[in-house]
Amino acid sequence: MTQPLDAFTYRNGVLHAGEVPVTEIADAVGTPTFVYSAEAIRSSYRRIERAFSPLGAHLHYAVKASSNLHILRLLHEQGAGMDVVSGGELERAWLAGTPMQEIVFAGVGKTEAEQRAALDGRFSPLLDDAERLGGANIEGRGPVGLFNVESESELEVLARVAAELGVIARACLRVNPDVDAKTHEYTTTGLEENKFGVAWQRVPEIFAAFRDVPSIKLVGMHVHIGSPVREIEPYESAVKVLLHLIDTLEGAGHEVSVLDLGGGWPMSYTDGESPEIEAFAEALVPLLEERAGNGLQIVLEPGRSILANSGVLLTRVQHVKEGREKTFVICDAGMHTLIRPAFYRAFHFAWPVRVDARHVPPAAAERVDLPDLRPCDIVGPICETGDFLARGRDLPPVKRGDLIAVFSAGAYGMSMSSNYNDHGRSAEVMVDGDRAVVINERQSLASLLETEMNPRVLTHG
Ligand SMILES: Cc1ncc(COP(=O)(O)O)c(C=O)c1O
Repeated sequence: MTQPLDAFTYRNGVLHAGEVPVTEIADAVGTPTFVYSAEAIRSSYRRIERAFSPLGAHLHYAVKASSNLHILRLLHEQGAGMDVVSGGELERAWLAGTPMQEIVFAGVGKTEAEQRAALDGRFSPLLDDAERLGGANIEGRGPVGLFNVESESELEVLARVAAELGVIARACLRVNPDVDAKTHEYTTTGLEENKFGVAWQRVPEIFAAFRDVPSIKLVGMHVHIGSPVREIEPYESAVKVLLHLIDTLEGAGHEVSVLDLGGGWPMSYTDGESPEIEAFAEALVPLLEERAGNGLQIVLEPGRSILANSGVLLTRVQHVKEGREKTFVICDAGMHTLIRPAFYRAFHFAWPVRVDARHVPPAAAERVDLPDLRPCDIVGPICETGDFLARGRDLPPVKRGDLIAVFSAGAYGMSMSSNYNDHGRSAEVMVDGDRAVVINERQSLASLLETEMNPRVLTHG
């Protein structure tokens, strides 16, 4: 897949997104700002689609990776369905133009209210605002194409809610295959000890229990083993568990028409960190080809692999503090803007936006071999020692007012950001060729305070 520096390139010592110098973006909208490349999003999407085309796989973009409406619209235009994990993401997918049949609703803790809204538009929390927000015919929309259900309890509640509404909920059962995805412990989801899915051994029993429930149609299975997954073998193991289960279920008279393999597909935070998506497809296609040829619908839910290297975070240096052994480069972005380094100790390549010719980075790597670099920690303004974007990096000299780009920030950047320490959330800009468009204005302090303006007495006396 794309490498961190593919979509964002240095020209005459200045980082560009498409044809646009990112310095112009920062000057116009300020910092911190996420900048996305429309072309990179389109081409990453197409590449995954092409790799799995022998299976006719249907891609549902994992909205959690980056949920800006304009990004969703761009992907909808490419033909993507959407994978959502909350009522909020569901409404975004709908507002972006995704037909309900093209939405997969996953998530381990769906509430009844979320299930209702996913089954019948009259229960959408946006009902009163739909017209203003451009969500045509929200009231008349039908059920989502697929629920990915995580437990028997959820199935029971969904069956009751669907029955009350007089509709049938189409569902896949999320299977926990007990496979180690060999990624960060917080994003490993396919081990028995993780909260996700039902133990694979129990799948036949659950299919049997819900066979005759008229408001639920269990059409297949879902699996998502972690993210990002850098080895092919865990996917092969998971698929083998699912194929074994299909045989067992069909033997018991169930029809299995959908297999959703989830997300976690490869991407690289440093050059060449992960095998290419084509290598994953090469290993998986032979396992699934025959079944797909016989009508089994294969679904994938890529998020990071499309968005991560399609975005950078621009941050401005506020202060430079010389320590005895290293320099602290103190920026206006931090763990509130991009939490991945603090939360997962994730590596993001970070480099000044404007450099002289000898400091143009040759690759995104943990160690850069160029002259006159200084050991630095790139940190944020938040009052936490864990508030860093990059630690122990060798950087060219930087001074107050310089811009730094944090690469591979397009996925799980803005969507995991917060208002900690009362910072408004960042602006977002989409670049397409020579056109740069603000797709999300910086959040104002006034909007942050709005919900606190009118205290409501609940009890008194
Ligand atoms: C069920 C499910 N599908 C898809 C994804 C997307 O994963 P990725 O962004 O690595 O493709 C996730 C991520 O956590 C997930 O939990």
